[in-house]
This record gives sequence, structure tokens and C-alpha cells, in this order.
Amino acid sequence: MDLSVEYLGLKLAHPLLPGASPLADELGTVRALEDAGAPAIVMRSLFEEQLTQEQLSTFMATEGHQSFSAEASSMLPEPSDYRLGPDRYLEQLRKIRAAVKVPVIASLNGTTPGGWIDFARLIEQAGASALELNLYAVPTDPARDGATVEKDTLDLVRTLKGRIKIPVAVKLSPFYTSISSVARGLEEAGADALVLFNRLFEPEIDVDALEVRRVLHLSDSSELPLRLRWLAILSAQRKIPLAISGGVHETVDIIRALMAGATAVQLVSTLLRNGPSRLLSLRASLERWLVEREYTSVRQLRGSMNLKACPDPSAYERANYIHLLHGWREHPSVP
Ligand SMILES: Cc1cc2nc3c(=O)[nH]c(=O)nc-3n(C[C@H](O)[C@H](O)[C@H](O)COP(=O)(O)O)c2cc1C
Repeated sequence: MDLSVEYLGLKLAHPLLPGASPLADELGTVRALEDAGAPAIVMRSLFEEQLTQEQLSTFMATEGHQSFSAEASSMLPEPSDYRLGPDRYLEQLRKIRAAVKVPVIASLNGTTPGGWIDFARLIEQAGASALELNLYAVPTDPARDGATVEKDTLDLVRTLKGRIKIPVAVKLSPFYTSISSVARGLEEAGADALVLFNRLFEPEIDVDALEVRRVLHLSDSSELPLRLRWLAILSAQRKIPLAISGGVHETVDIIRALMAGATAVQLVSTLLRNGPSRLLSLRASLERWLVEREYTSVRQLRGSMNLKACPDPSAYERANYIHLLHGWREHPSVP
């Protein structure tokens, strides 16, 4: 059975990757992931804000990055609030490289053009095989319209691509007016893969304490369908490889993601809940499923139920909405 895939210039033994998260913070966990067959390690994101805080100006100046602008903002978390600062991030990257044989994918989170992008070169020099650009942002300025936000994103990706040679994946949110258009723009801007989607962690209102609380819930499979729909649409429209991130917990979730058009399948919540060995059992059950149905490779599965290939493409589109709303019965057995 050929489970191998090519993703971000890497030949991976199978499509299941641990996604960006604290899973790569400890070398013990990183080694356990490699032992469980992880074909690559994805590090958590280093944030633009971390790279524009004053304490880093010296660091960057000594690295010869004159374009760096040291803007500190009182709105930002304190440097000590971050798990890994920039220097420790590079150190951790080097340590992971030394500890395991599999390639390391680093991650930067940022949305505005700026000197922080230069840090990607240090990440490249420290041995990352690829970089994920995590675009998590909450645009709240009414003066910046959607077209401006999207143009800035494409400029950012172009700039980043001009600075480094390693492949760049872009991790998107699902909240664009036209995801298809953004995906085309990103492909044209040189992105080497898209990751669908980032999970936005929504704050909760505590009605008794009158506080807005930050909460981080791990996902479940209910987050999958949104991703499947866009995998199915984009894999039919574009050549750029797609990875899924969000809601993959069971073997059937993996199969659905591959059928919808994913090249790589990222896992976080299930690995945080069940430990690295979950990767091993998911890989084994994926292989079993494929063998039982006489597939010979995951490539055969990829996109087999996407917008172009599936028997009823309208299921992914607007017609589906109309059918569902008009077809709903409280008691389906009653005609
Ligand atoms: C504790 C935690 C930390 C995370 N940190 C990052 C991060 O630094 N960068 C990033 O792009 N995504 C981060 N994520 C999001 C995951 O990479 C992933 O997109 C999300 O959890 C959905 O996948 P899942 O359903 O398999 O958990 C984090 C998720 C969790 C739970």
C-alpha cells in the first residue's frame, strides 16, 4: 500500500501530520511523535507581535536586519506570556532538528508587512524544511475593506516568498467573502500549499463575573464539514496542494478529507487528548481501510469526491442549501 504523499517539497511516508501546537514544545513529545510515525513536525507559531517588541530590536540588529521596526504596544501580551520567544524558537527548532530525522515545518503568525518577515530567513537558516504562515487575525477596523485586507495578505505572501527559498504554506481562516478568489491569489503569489482552516478561538462571556474569558476548547469532528466543502471546491479548481486542519479525529474523518482533496491531514486535538500514539493507530486503520477496499495508494483516493469528481456536485454548492431547507420534515417517515 502506497500511503506516501508530496507536501511542501517533502516526500512524506503518509499524509498524517501533527499540526502547529504545543506538541513540538517538548523534545520528549517530538521523539514520541517520530516513534509514532509522524513524517514531519510542525512547530507552534511565533507571532509578529513577538518580533516587533522592543526587546527584540537588539537581537535583530545584531543579526543585521536593519528594516526591523521596534514598535512596542501596550495592548500586546508581555514577552514572558509567550511560551517561546524568538531566540528560544530558533533554539527549539535546532534542537528538534538534532533530535529527530523527520523534517521540521516552522510557523509564523503575522498579517501586516514589516521587518518581522526577515525572521523567516533565520528560521530557514536554523534548518526548517518549510514554513507555515498562519494568517489568524480579527480585522476590526471599518476603514480597511475586504479588498485591502486581501491585497495586504497577498503582498505579505509575495514578500515572504521573495525572502526565503523553503516552501511556504498559508493557513487561512474560513472567513473571506470569496475563498476561491483568495486561494487563486495565494497560488499566484507563490504559496506552495494552503492549510484549511485555522480555528478561531472565540471568547466567552461570563454572565456572573461580567468578564470576557479566553477559552480554548479542543475540537471535535463537527468542525470537519466546513473544511470538507472547501477542500472539495478548491481541489477541483486549483493545483496548489491542500492540507486540512480542524476536526480530524477518526479514521473516517481522514478518509473524507482525502476524498475531498486533501494532500496532508493535520491533527492536533486528537493528539493532545490521546497522546502521540494516536497517530500510529490512525495510520494503521487508514491503511486497513484502503486495503479492504482494494485501493493501492492514497493518491487514488485524493479528490475522488471533490466538486469535479463526485456524482452530485450540487451537494457542495448553493443548491444543497435550497434542497435541505425545502426537504426538511420534522418526522422524516411522514410524507
Ligand atoms: C493548544 C493549541 C495551540 C495551538 N497553537 C497554534 C499555533 O501556534 N499556530 C497555529 O497555526 N495553530 C495553532 N493551533 C491550531 C491547530 O494547529 C489546529 O489548526 C486546530 O487545533 C484545529 O485542528 P484540530 O481540530 O486537529 O485540533 C493550536 C491549537 C491548540 C489546541
